[in-house]
Amino acid sequence: MESTWTKTLALLGSCLLFSFIPANGQADFQGATHMMPFEEDTIGYNKAKTSDPISQLQSKMDKGEFELKHEGDSGFLDALLLELGIPKSSQVLVFSKTSLQRERISPRTPRALYFNDDVYIGYIPGSPIVEVSAVDPKLGGVFYTLDQHQLKNPKFVRTDQCLECHASSKSMGVPGHLVRSFETDESGVVELSTGISIVNHRTPFEDRWGGWYVTGKHGEQTHRGNLMGKAALDKQEKKPNHAGNLTDLSGFFNASRYPEKGSDIVALMVLEHQTHMHNFITRLNYESNIQLARYGHMNYISNIVESFLKYLLFTEEATIKDGLEGSSTFTKDFESFGPTDSKGRSLRQFDLKKRVFKYPCSFLIYSKAFNELPAQTKNHVYKRLWEILTEKDTSGDFAAIASGTRRAILEILVETKSDLPDYWKTVASSESGN
Ligand code: HEC
Repeated sequence: MESTWTKTLALLGSCLLFSFIPANGQADFQGATHMMPFEEDTIGYNKAKTSDPISQLQSKMDKGEFELKHEGDSGFLDALLLELGIPKSSQVLVFSKTSLQRERISPRTPRALYFNDDVYIGYIPGSPIVEVSAVDPKLGGVFYTLDQHQLKNPKFVRTDQCLECHASSKSMGVPGHLVRSFETDESGVVELSTGISIVNHRTPFEDRWGGWYVTGKHGEQTHRGNLMGKAALDKQEKKPNHAGNLTDLSGFFNASRYPEKGSDIVALMVLEHQTHMHNFITRLNYESNIQLARYGHMNYISNIVESFLKYLLFTEEATIKDGLEGSSTFTKDFESFGPTDSKGRSLRQFDLKKRVFKYPCSFLIYSKAFNELPAQTKNHVYKRLWEILTEKDTSGDFAAIASGTRRAILEILVETKSDLPDYWKTVASSESGN
């Protein structure tokens, strides 16, 4: 099995990686997406002990504290989602032949992805493996496969071969996560000239979801989802949204082979924000540690922190022009994860009319990876964030954030984030008169 994958990987690596054009205009870190030396000692990606949710689950299984149940056609999938607290409603479907098991993926057998804040699962009905990427607070994306045929003592096998695609300029030069958008032919083969190779919350709506199924409502806005082959793409020119606003994909493939029927538009929007946010946190972590090892200080981190904050606060988010409505229970499920403040507000609350979130500050600020950034870097982020949210800084990049929005985010964070420096708390309570 290993050798077939190795061959597939080598082949795909050579034909896919180098042919995609970086798109999307905006560059993070002033254009720097070069590879970070993560295999060297400072980060020690291959050698360091992992503490991501999958390695923790594996050690529970090894100790006999948990048994992963294999059930029905989907094998370990259901038990895995349940144990990791990943809602089935997060299901999104990709039919482009862009990833590892490309020969199994097509519009008739799309690849399903499921996710929560720190694990992503890739599942193709009938495939012998489940693919997993997990977020390690120190290392970034860590990759595993789970053999669906090994019923006794199932094992998550860590494999760095995935890095051929998952550590490149498309994942900010660190081991991380990918979302792309390409036009495809009827069988899901991508048209290389049409690509958006990094899709995130800044990508205009009309450029998203080439090679993906999309279900839910989005009004008159167009996107590239649900379109495969020249005829469908040409028709889109004359009859925009002829395959838009779908709630049912049964005309395309046998949806009963998947836990959910659709590919929820709101889940897609969240996925696209968070994959890039994860890569950003990893990059900031690596940059900090490598600068510290190299120069004995992190004085050059400021520019990176500024672009990090722009992404964290959604300053360049693509505008939603027509309201969005998901097709699954994802919107409700995701909001229910909280945390909420005493007024019932949370960073996970959706807007979906003009932007994704009501209070635009990434919920990944609660993630372990953010919390475990080197202290000096985290302090710097907190100081700048506090200046922006208290309107000591209303300049340039952050000017468009409304006063009330800043205030609300500040109040939510003060109540829900326990590691904030003390100066945050004094200001918030004195100014709100509590
Ligand atoms: C040929 C390139 C390629 C290889 C090799 C590859 N992937 Fe991916 N992967 C992608 C692309 C592209 C996406 C974005 C979704 C899509 O287009 O299918 C993706 C998405 C994913 C996702 C969804 C979230 C994320 O992390 O981006 C998971 C999980 C995943 N891959 C797991 C793996 C694992 C595990 C391996 C190795 C066993 C692997 N992949 C190898 C290209 C690859």
